[in-house]
Amino acid sequence: MRKETSIHGQWSSKLAFVLAATGSAVGLGNIWRFPYITGENGGGAFVLVYLMCILLIGLPVMIGEILLGRRGRQSPINTMTSLSHEEGLSRAWSLIGWLGVAAAFMILSFYSVIAGWSLSYVFRTAGGAFTGLDVDGVRGVFEGLVSDPERLLAWHTVFMVMNVLVVARGVRSGLEQAVKFLMPALLGLLLVLVIYAVSIGHFAEGMRFLFAPDFSKINGEVVLMAMGQAFFTLSLGMGAIMIYGSYLSSRASIMRTSATVVSADTLVAVLAGVAIFPIVFASGLQPDEGPGLIFVTLPMAFSGMPGGVIFGTLFFILLVMAAWTSSISLMEPAVAWLVENRDMERVKASVLVGLVAWVLGIGTVLSFNLWSSPIGFHLDLGGEEPVFIGGTIFSMMDYLTSNVLLPLGGLFIALFVGWRMTRRSVQDELGVGTGLLFRGWYAVLRFVAPVGILLVFLNAVNLI
Ligand code: PHE
Ligand code: NA
Repeated sequence: MRKETSIHGQWSSKLAFVLAATGSAVGLGNIWRFPYITGENGGGAFVLVYLMCILLIGLPVMIGEILLGRRGRQSPINTMTSLSHEEGLSRAWSLIGWLGVAAAFMILSFYSVIAGWSLSYVFRTAGGAFTGLDVDGVRGVFEGLVSDPERLLAWHTVFMVMNVLVVARGVRSGLEQAVKFLMPALLGLLLVLVIYAVSIGHFAEGMRFLFAPDFSKINGEVVLMAMGQAFFTLSLGMGAIMIYGSYLSSRASIMRTSATVVSADTLVAVLAGVAIFPIVFASGLQPDEGPGLIFVTLPMAFSGMPGGVIFGTLFFILLVMAAWTSSISLMEPAVAWLVENRDMERVKASVLVGLVAWVLGIGTVLSFNLWSSPIGFHLDLGGEEPVFIGGTIFSMMDYLTSNVLLPLGGLFIALFVGWRMTRRSVQDELGVGTGLLFRGWYAVLRFVAPVGILLVFLNAVNLI
């Protein structure tokens, strides 16, 4: 007999799952990371590859990851152990869960620091700190913030405590209501920003940067970054979506809910890009400003529009909330595992996970000030010049998780669901019959997604 529910509980409805998964997906990845990574990787062509990765890799892998969660009904590590056992496969597949937990700690550690920047911006914007400033002034405020490790640490601490408070009580309470109000509000404010971006005169330039592909800007590294962004933004490949799937009712349609989550996430990312790049050009900034991009451009917009203090304050509040509903999903797999295997109380497990991520986060706090010079080494790969491998602690954790660990997790998920589970179990869990929809998805998951991920990896290290 299959388990109908997880010991950690279940979503109150199908809508609750869609909202929770959307809450996990939509976050700093859309509004902070998408614009800055797009800006660093040349714009249009990167965006095109990113959208292809969302459709051909992200969507099919998300369906597979939710399917695994719902079938296993435990933390990702134990889900993978028990499903491999059930299917007569090696226990080694539980590696998917372990890799995911490792990725989760690293992501959570820097995510919380960046969410901390957003928190501090709520108060700065509300206090009128940006009113009347020009670009140099706004950049000065940002640099003042990130050069001060104690302030960054304080905000990082506040955000981590917020996460522990929610996860300790169980991620379900309040999440549904929060996301229900958050998504429309966020979309509304993004539209305000888009209208402002249209009104300032550099809209066409922004759109050209974002949507006109210049294929000379494409190389193996850019494609890897696009694939990494697709995994990061959809919360894929590390178990967050898997554990949310484990709380999903057996009757809900996995395919339909996945399509909804992917569409919502993509819409928010594209709107953020549409809003931000015209402001970048109108302010005389460069798209490759780096992780501070939105923290310099958005205050410029809010200081230039009527009602900017109110809109700006609201926007940063919503950004913090979006980050919050994402980071609780980063904590959940490890917390559930501690509860299952160490028989720990949920409260204790949440505090422990929060504490470890908080300590790791100090590395990111220092990456923008005391430890901002890159550490690493040069590697001669036979190219024109040796490649530098390294960076700040922040940039290395960001790179390693998005571009290596998450796609690797996605690859293993695609291989497990597509090639190792019996077709019968997969069909049984998905419950959409054996028609075109099933066959189409199954073929993409078996062939397109894994081959795509492998090719992107090999190409990025110059092996093909
Ligand atoms: N998808 C989230 C965002 O875009 C980040 C995230 C990644 C959350 C991985 C959970 C797991 O902000
Ligand atoms: Na996202």
